[in-house]
Amino acid sequence: MITNTELEYKGNLYPNQIVDFSQDVDKLYFTSENGVVLQITVLRNSALRFRYATEYNFEPDFSYAISEKGIRGYDKLVVSETKTEYLLETIRMKILVDKKTMRIQISDPEGNIINEDEIGFHWEENYEYGGNTVKMSKITQTGESFYGLGDKAMHSNLKGKRVSNWVTDQYAYGKDQDPLYKAVPFYVGLTENKAYGIFFDNTFKTHFDFAHERRNTTSFWADGGEMNYYFIYGPDVSKVVRLYTDLTGKPELPPLWALGFQQSKWSYFPESNVKEIAKKFRDLNIPCDAIYLDIDYMDGFRCFTWDKTKFPDPKRMISELEEDGFKTVVMIDPGIKVDRDYWVYQEAMENDYFCKRGDGPYMNGKVWPGKCNFPDFTNPEVRQWWAELYKEFMTELGVHAVWNDMNEPAVMEVPSKTAPLDTRHYYEGNPTTHRKAHNIYGMQMVRATYNGVKKHSYPKRPFVITRAAYSGTQRYACTWTGDNVATWEHLWLANVQMQRMCMSGYSFVGSDIGGFAEQPNGELFARWIQLGIFHPFCRVHSSGDHGDQEPWSFDSGVTDVVRKFIELRYQLLPYLYTMFYEYSNNGIAMLKSLVMFDQEDPQTHFRTDEFIFGHQILVCPIQEPNAQGRRMYVPRGNWYNFWTDELIKGGREMWVDADIDSIPLFVKEGAMIPKYPVQQYVGEKDIDQLRIEVYYKNGIENSTVYEDGQDGYDYTKGRYSLRNFKLQGKPAQLSIQQYKDGTFVTDYETIEFKFHGLSFEIGGIEIDSEKVSLEDVKYGEDLSIQVSKNFTVLRVLGK
Ligand code: GLC
Repeated sequence: MITNTELEYKGNLYPNQIVDFSQDVDKLYFTSENGVVLQITVLRNSALRFRYATEYNFEPDFSYAISEKGIRGYDKLVVSETKTEYLLETIRMKILVDKKTMRIQISDPEGNIINEDEIGFHWEENYEYGGNTVKMSKITQTGESFYGLGDKAMHSNLKGKRVSNWVTDQYAYGKDQDPLYKAVPFYVGLTENKAYGIFFDNTFKTHFDFAHERRNTTSFWADGGEMNYYFIYGPDVSKVVRLYTDLTGKPELPPLWALGFQQSKWSYFPESNVKEIAKKFRDLNIPCDAIYLDIDYMDGFRCFTWDKTKFPDPKRMISELEEDGFKTVVMIDPGIKVDRDYWVYQEAMENDYFCKRGDGPYMNGKVWPGKCNFPDFTNPEVRQWWAELYKEFMTELGVHAVWNDMNEPAVMEVPSKTAPLDTRHYYEGNPTTHRKAHNIYGMQMVRATYNGVKKHSYPKRPFVITRAAYSGTQRYACTWTGDNVATWEHLWLANVQMQRMCMSGYSFVGSDIGGFAEQPNGELFARWIQLGIFHPFCRVHSSGDHGDQEPWSFDSGVTDVVRKFIELRYQLLPYLYTMFYEYSNNGIAMLKSLVMFDQEDPQTHFRTDEFIFGHQILVCPIQEPNAQGRRMYVPRGNWYNFWTDELIKGGREMWVDADIDSIPLFVKEGAMIPKYPVQQYVGEKDIDQLRIEVYYKNGIENSTVYEDGQDGYDYTKGRYSLRNFKLQGKPAQLSIQQYKDGTFVTDYETIEFKFHGLSFEIGGIEIDSEKVSLEDVKYGEDLSIQVSKNFTVLRVLGK
């Protein structure tokens, strides 16, 4: 235990005796003799906010991260007091505030400690910049594990690590390199089967130490700003993530095509090359929904312009691609070329929209076009202007979606890789420097882009992608993990990065499949596709300065494997779309690390490779060359091998075969997995039948299928179709109950059920208590039946 004397010696200050307490409805104020004010706000039964002021002064209360739509409200708040402490009680938590030290201890209603301050809040005055370096330290419990923190290219369990959050353009990053492109100062702690989350909503550079420096201490601190953190209690990991996502916001549903396969390169040009790539997809029957234009479509890298020698008539090209089922996605960067003859530059200059340095000159930085200025996206007027810049692209030219890149902002040829720290920002009327605005700069850029694309694509749904992000950016955009490398290690990393992002409230995420830098061989590419089709955002992208990276760039064996897996993704679209619906509606992570799936099983706490896609599909990528399979951990419960239908019992490690055309894939028993037919792009075919793969279970399992118009906003008016299924299997019987919600009428009239692992031979079928003949349901040898879609109870009986 560190003593206060030692702390003083190190230049730290800390609160002393509490001399005043007051309550204002949901807010409690504790004031120490030396001027520290602790404000605790009760947000929900399981969510609290802690803020600490020094010298009695809170900063203006403002956050870019917190969503206005988050749920608030609690059932009970009782405050009592003893000689030594205050006690706050909600129906889910007990919070003790020590009168002498202001230290906090949080326990569940039964008194089991969930989280406890070590020194608690302390701070150092920052003489160089002014303000404080604010710090918090917590006691690390024995056996405690840590997860989350956005995009960290390291083992999913952060115990023993020290990391920082400072969004950084990290070309060809390596394992354990930190920080990367995103700042998500949120982590999940798990101890004694109880999980909690801490979100340190501070946009300065933040640091987290998980029992790295001192074995029994977890601490976090920031280079400025306030000690301002949210505490969320589970006890389930999944609930912590759900509440954090609710707090920082959920995205709207994307258009369904955005979940299709997408092909990108730096860069496809001229038009003939783009067309050629698109045609090849169709010729080879490899499904694809979108093609990307990287910076070279622009005139001298000037955003919102076209190089007319490469793309003489973008409008015609985009519409021709669209006729062939391709959406066109274009890149927009934040750096605006300093060029007096360039209209975007002129407009920004006329309106004073560019960021300036501390003493007044413009902030200049070199990016692709050479010397650039950077719009101050922390000014709402600038965001509005930026949003309008998309008008011509979306409405006249028919561009379908936009990716924002380099929005850390990335600046070339300077050691910091970004804007100078004295750069000024408006920050919604609280002017500040880049030290505070850096981590949210890209977020505010993509927010402006999202607003513009949304407005000008209406009544279609917007699809926007960003590289830089801070907590809450998931409300606006999909994201990718930046410039990775074509190595096996990066395949391992991609898997961990996607899981961690999902654990951090940011599920709409993917990697550059195959690797951005360097050239994958066919085997690595195929293995990466096999993983990538299970990531919410599924896109091949590469730097293009080496060989090609299209599905046909390797040998025909690889092309066949790639086609097979992209086809599987298209078949699984209704399952994936349902996952997105649950994310968008309820904040449920789309990919679940095993610890989120079954935290009671300590085996899961350190697993990195296996994950659950949605609720019911277990995936484990092959991460080595020349593999014919691998050992993997199958979580508890019974699972069907997707390829063989073999039923296995989990809770153990086992060898699973997976030659180059396979990936270890299991379906949870009882699951009902919806499938569409293979399409070359979303909307190619009318879906005249929904197929549901039914995996028999002796017991109960619930499944859901969400569908709607696949684009547009009708779903917000109730025009969606939500099928909730309850499967119940007995030794010689299987019943499926359907409860349907929403008014959307699907095109198909029948559902085809295909049974796997039935423990009996089918002798009869009953639909809504009426016996129907096996012919009527087209009972086939392959154990499938066709049933009118609006049934309530389907009973499959044994002979
Ligand atoms: C950055 C991006 C990459 C893009 C390149 C050129 O490196 O991360 O995706 O292709 O810039 O625009």
